[in-house]
Amino acid sequence: MSASIIDGNAIREEILSELKSEIAQFQGRKPNVVFIRVGEDPASVSYVRKKEKTATQIGMNAALEVYPESISEGELLGHVGRLNGDGAVDGILVQAPLPKHIDEQRVFNSVSAEKDVDGFNASNIGRILQDDNSRFVSCTPAGIIELLTRSRIETRGAHAVIVGRSQIVGKPIAQLLLQRAEWGNATVTVCHSATRDLSAITKQADILIAAIGSAEFIKGDMLKPGAVVIDVGINRISDSTSKKGYRLVGDVEFGSASQIASKITPVPGGVGPMTVAMLMANTVKAYKLKRGL
Ligand code: GUN
Repeated sequence: MSASIIDGNAIREEILSELKSEIAQFQGRKPNVVFIRVGEDPASVSYVRKKEKTATQIGMNAALEVYPESISEGELLGHVGRLNGDGAVDGILVQAPLPKHIDEQRVFNSVSAEKDVDGFNASNIGRILQDDNSRFVSCTPAGIIELLTRSRIETRGAHAVIVGRSQIVGKPIAQLLLQRAEWGNATVTVCHSATRDLSAITKQADILIAAIGSAEFIKGDMLKPGAVVIDVGINRISDSTSKKGYRLVGDVEFGSASQIASKITPVPGGVGPMTVAMLMANTVKAYKLKRGL
């Protein structure tokens, strides 16, 4: 292996410890985040538990509201409205996925822009296009930017190729890398399922960001030697040698890619750990904005 590892766990700990010191300095009430979970999807239960635990570990208040799968969209919007109006709540996060009878986008857009620590509200997404970072960038793209900047990876003039055009990763990370900012000024190409001759494009990438949702899709021979590889994928593949019967792999085939890349994020332990840290950072930001700090 020639690539060095970009260690998401270590960078997450660095960020959480910075936030913890900052929170300790706040006078009076601490930052307060409320999670809404609908139903008992095991992955959502585990994600939200992790978010709550991390929030309390760094000295914030966290509350969880759980509603049944049968809740109507109107009722759920009513709960978000109540939290929007509650002066003691800084951040609101409605955990996805929501049941099929609820319009997820409508719910995300109903979260007050000032409390949208998930960065999923249309007005906060729009601000990214205006190079306005005074509000909230959603947690996965914000985490990727932190990994790049804290690993001192030069984005200015670099060709960043993003594979995947999702609302929560591909599109916002493309915009952030385009911004006139210390983490931006890249030349950005976004590839997707209709892209022709994908490897001809990925081979030009100085920075390759894989957010496809397909296990080990990007192979080493699709990379430019020395590329920086950021793997956003988290895929379960069956593995009879593991106790759980599966193991986690990214959207990049780590074995072959790490022979060609100069730096690479592992799965697990790369982008994943960053998302919770960025949610905490967004909540602290919401608290400070409200208090004019
Ligand atoms: N489900 C999986 N990831 C996320 C996330 O970042 N935010 C929300 N609200 N739901 C999710």
